[in-house]
Formats: sequence, structure tokens, C-alpha cells
Amino acid sequence: MTTLGTPLSPSATRVMLLGAGELGKEVLIALQRLGVETIAVDRYDNAPGQQVAHHARTITMSDPAQLQALIEAEKPDLVVPEIEAIATPVLQALEAAGVVRVVPTARAARLTMDREGIRRLAAETLGLPTSPYRFCDSLAELQAAIDAGIGYPCIVKPVMSSSGKGQSKIDGPADVQTAWDCAMAGGRVGPGRIIVEGFIDFDYEITQLTVRARGADGQIETHFCDPIGHVQVSGDYVESWQPHPMTPAALAESRRIAKAVTDDLGQGHDGQPSGLGLYGVELFVKGDQVWFSEVSPRPHDTGMVTLITQWQNEFELHARAILGLPVSTSLKSPGASAVIYGGVDATGIVFDGVDDALRVPHSEIRLFGKPESFTKRRMGVALVFDADVEVARTQAKLAAGKVKPRRA
Ligand SMILES: Nc1ncnc2c1ncn2[C@@H]1O[C@H](COP(=O)(O)OP(=O)(O)OP(=O)(O)O)[C@@H](O)[C@H]1O
Ligand SMILES: [Mg+2]
Repeated sequence: MTTLGTPLSPSATRVMLLGAGELGKEVLIALQRLGVETIAVDRYDNAPGQQVAHHARTITMSDPAQLQALIEAEKPDLVVPEIEAIATPVLQALEAAGVVRVVPTARAARLTMDREGIRRLAAETLGLPTSPYRFCDSLAELQAAIDAGIGYPCIVKPVMSSSGKGQSKIDGPADVQTAWDCAMAGGRVGPGRIIVEGFIDFDYEITQLTVRARGADGQIETHFCDPIGHVQVSGDYVESWQPHPMTPAALAESRRIAKAVTDDLGQGHDGQPSGLGLYGVELFVKGDQVWFSEVSPRPHDTGMVTLITQWQNEFELHARAILGLPVSTSLKSPGASAVIYGGVDATGIVFDGVDDALRVPHSEIRLFGKPESFTKRRMGVALVFDADVEVARTQAKLAAGKVKPRRA
């Protein structure tokens, strides 16, 4: 049985979000609606989620001492990582000591924070299909890996990076040095290790949102959302839609892979099934063939489309699942999302044309409230539902384009 308390009282159920960007903001809103007391942590003040939480804290989450001190001071019931760049060994130690429960598990946060942990788990331990890959620590090793079988074209990524940072495609020998330099400049923790992956010539890619939630008998059940199609430009998501049409065989294979990965990541430090929450499993599809790419043990950016397509969006599903509540992944309507970029480098910007955007039929606009805009920073999203998913895609892009960010 789940018991929830009263916020700001001794009975409160307290949840700490590590990372309070646009995804964390929606998780926080879902938690607020259930009367949960929330603590939003980010590396800068007035992050989107901090604006809707009971408490806001600003620390360097990759610093073990700062992270440990904050968790020990706040004593939350649950810690929910929303970003990858966290001192995850601290989470593992505190979870093992019984100080706090980490969502979905500290081990999942640790394994997915760098590409090596999750890739070796998926390909080598679980035997799931992935692109061919090698890990390299120097330009010479990269060239040797390509020559020894990875071949051209291939993709180079720093092991610690997200949103396409430091990532580039190599079409032939002339691109190798440039790709290496790009990876060295784009990694999260300075120069270091890279993964080189054989290029998969997929027909399309999807995110398979997968939820581990408690059933009526107390057992953990796995639920699947309808597949989300998306377009990535330079490794960053620009539009997504749901459902994406798939052959029955490709859908079954996607769910087999998603279940295998989330079952494993959902094991606690004691090997017991735990790992409640929503996961975003990224898959490449060609015909009936499916490759595992990577997984977020948390809501996924392409899943923002569920704000308009599902009865319970991915953030509500995450909030419910982690609290031990039942979930439903059913679709409300097909729909699409399109990203609104900052377009300018400035603080405190303004957005013209929100009225025009909202005149697009069946549309909604979310502006994240980020204090500072960059040309390529995601500042908002347009959402449209329509019985025809292709119409929804067109209309979502139309609505996003009507919002014009500019300096104040
Ligand atoms: N081996 C590959 N073959 C073909 N395309 C690939 C390959 N690896 C990555 N891509 C393309 O690049 C995109 C980003 O790659 P990936 O998800 O590994 O990077 P990321 O930095 O973690 O991105 P994000 O944080 O946005 O998920 C993929 O969604 C896909 O479109
Ligand atoms: Mg990705």
C-alpha cells in the first residue's frame, strides 16, 4: 500500500529532483498534484523546475561532497536523477546504506551516465543487438578500430556526453582527425575516452517508453507506451510524434529489447527487483530488424509529445510509478511535438507570436522559463493532436515556427 503525506508537515512525502530542466519541471508538477513535497536541485538558480517546487537548491551535482551533504541535510524519501552528470557513486553508497531510495536505482544512474556502462551491459551481458562498436583512448586507437572492422561510415561520440555534443560522423579517412578533435572538445569531463560505432542505415528510429510499476498484487509489472518516432539533427531532437507505425514483428522485437534492458537496470543493489519508474529506450529500426541504441532511466525529451497524446503523460507515469501507484499508458490521440529554440544568446528574452501559435487548431505551447537563452537551446515546445499523425507533425512545426524569441 502507498501512503502519501501532507507537504510542509512532518508527514510529508519528500522527493528530490537532481536536475530541474524542462523534463524535471513536468515531473515536479505531476508530484505537486499528488501533494508531494518537492526539492528541485540544479547547477544554476531559477532553473525551470525550481520555479514550481517547494524548495530550490543550487549545487554542483557532479561534486560528491556537495551532493552527499545536500541529501543528508534534506533527507528526502526519494532521489530522482533527471540528468546524467551526477556523482553517482555517492548515490550508490547512500542507497546501499539505506539512507535514501534512488529512482529507478543508483546502479541504473551509474550505468547510463557513460556510454560504456550501458553499451557493454546491453551488448555483452544481455546479448542484445547493437551497432558494432569499440572504445578508444587515442586517435591511433580510433584509426585502428575503424581499420580492424568498424569501417566507414561510422560515428564517434565521447563516452560522457549527451544531446549530440562532441558527436560526429566519419565518411572516410579524411574525417578521422576532425571527429577525434570534435569528441575531445565536446566531452563532459575533458579529454578522454570515445566510442566509435558502425553507422546503422535505419529506416526510422523510435523511443519505446517503458514503465515499471507496481501491480495490485505488489509485483512489478512492465507497461509499454505506443512507439514515438522522432527526428534528430546533430544528435539533438527537433520533432517527435506518437504513434509511429511499425510492423508487428518490429514492435514485438522493440518491446523484447526494452523489457530486457529495463528488467536488468531495475535490479537493486541487492539484486532484488525494484527500479520503479519510466525509462526511454532508444531503438533503430530497419524492416523487422531492431538495434538497441541507448536508454534513459527517466523521462525522455522525445516523450514530451505525450503531454498531448496520452491520458497519463510520461512525467505523470514516472511520478506515479516511483510512488508505487498504478499507471495506464493508453493513448488519448495521435499527436506531435516540435522544439522551439532560443535563436538568440541573451538572458530574460521575450517570445512574440504565442497567440498566433495557439490559433493553430489543437495546439498547446510550453515555454520552459529558462533564465538564459542560447541560439540552439531548447526554450519551449509546440504540441498538436490530430487523428492523422502526419497532419499533427506539420501543424506542430507550424505552431513552433510562429513563436519568435527575441531580446527583451
Ligand atoms: N550508430 C549509429 N548509426 C546511425 N545513427 C546513429 C548512430 N548513433 C547515433 N546515431 C544518430 O544520432 C542520434 C544521437 O545519438 P545518441 O542518442 O547516441 O546521442 P546522445 O548524445 O545521447 O543524444 P541524446 O542525448 O539526444 O539522446 C541518434 O538518435 C541517431 O539519430
Ligand atoms: Mg540518444
